[in-house]
Amino acid sequence: MVLNECLESLGLVLEYNLKDYPLHQHAVRVGEGCALLGYKMGFDEKVLQHLYFAGLLHDVGKISIPLDILNKRESLTAEEFEIVKKHSVHGSRIIISLPELDKLAFWIRWHHECWDGSGYPDGLVKDEIPMEIQVLSAIDCFDSLQTPRMDRDAHTPDEAMNIIRQYSGTHFNPDIIDLIFEMHREQTLVPGKSSRQFLEIKDKYLNVPLVGNERDYRQYYGITGLYPVLRLFARVIDAKHHYTSGHSIRVSILSKYMAEQMGFPIDDLIKIEIAGLMHDAGKISIPVEVLDKKGPPTEEEWISIKKHPIHSSELIKNISLFDEISHIVYYHHVWVDGRGYPDIKPGESITVLSQIIAVADAFDAITTERAYSRAENTETAYRIIKEGLGSQFHYEAGETLINISPKYIKALFDMHEV
Ligand SMILES: [Fe+2]
Ligand SMILES: [Fe+2]
Ligand SMILES: [Fe+2]
Repeated sequence: MVLNECLESLGLVLEYNLKDYPLHQHAVRVGEGCALLGYKMGFDEKVLQHLYFAGLLHDVGKISIPLDILNKRESLTAEEFEIVKKHSVHGSRIIISLPELDKLAFWIRWHHECWDGSGYPDGLVKDEIPMEIQVLSAIDCFDSLQTPRMDRDAHTPDEAMNIIRQYSGTHFNPDIIDLIFEMHREQTLVPGKSSRQFLEIKDKYLNVPLVGNERDYRQYYGITGLYPVLRLFARVIDAKHHYTSGHSIRVSILSKYMAEQMGFPIDDLIKIEIAGLMHDAGKISIPVEVLDKKGPPTEEEWISIKKHPIHSSELIKNISLFDEISHIVYYHHVWVDGRGYPDIKPGESITVLSQIIAVADAFDAITTERAYSRAENTETAYRIIKEGLGSQFHYEAGETLINISPKYIKALFDMHEV
């Protein structure tokens, strides 16, 4: 619960920054409005809760926008508007640092995307925008219109409703605007402490711990405190070689995202994130001339390359709690049909987590420049992975990656600044 309370306080930081609090509490009202509309739409409780926090924090990135721009009394110049637009990306980069809430980071990044594709920063169109964020952006606009601004007074709820209805089908999903209209008419979209329905929702769904508390999760959660040092470790590994700059971090976050899509529990997500960071640690033992070689490696060079997963796993196996991570790393170059390297040890089997890393690893190798190949685009990577499904690549892991929109992968890497 402490995390919930911290995030609620963080939501207020911006209000104080804008001197809006306690006048209007825009962030609080957006959070509450999202919970009310999300509840009407039948979102499950976890989604409802995340949506509430996304509402509270949606503009957190505005903290990095100069106040003279935010508080300007006349309309913004084109240049100033470009600066303001950066707040959604900044906000996502702030929120992504919470390891278990990356969904929230995506939503915050996309709260100014528009139904017709004219929004920012990624130009998502219609269903590319997750439903939750379609809700948030409509509620945000509806409430912003009712907030007094430097250059205008607050609109009444009726006026605000009329204005957002003009953007139905362009800025917003028409179905959501219809729902807001209905709730406005029934007087059920009334955020604020006076709303009995909101208080009921809050009691039942929002006042529960934001993250899971499975036993394993608690055990592994301690490890997340090591993230800064593990990321440093990954940077050292990648820095040996300019072709691999950022590789370990990209493999780590993409693998984790894939595992999340596949429904793995949080303790596995933590393991795979760390395994991704460490998977190529053993490459430190391969001479740069070999890594940099344009042609195929000699037999001797190939032997040293093939040892790197073993070295990676040996490097980390003495760290307490890293047993399983060491196992995942050991098998990241073994194909699903048993080919690849190294040989599987007697009595051991490969986990899906290793095979997820293998897919993410291949994706990154294909889409970045290497000594022996140029960078290909995402579509080519998807095609190559598709061809290897069931032989080189684990079927479900490969399919999971292919089904992720390239725009999402770009956004994911950008939020992590890699
Ligand atoms: Fe915003
Ligand atoms: Fe590798
Ligand atoms: Fe790799």
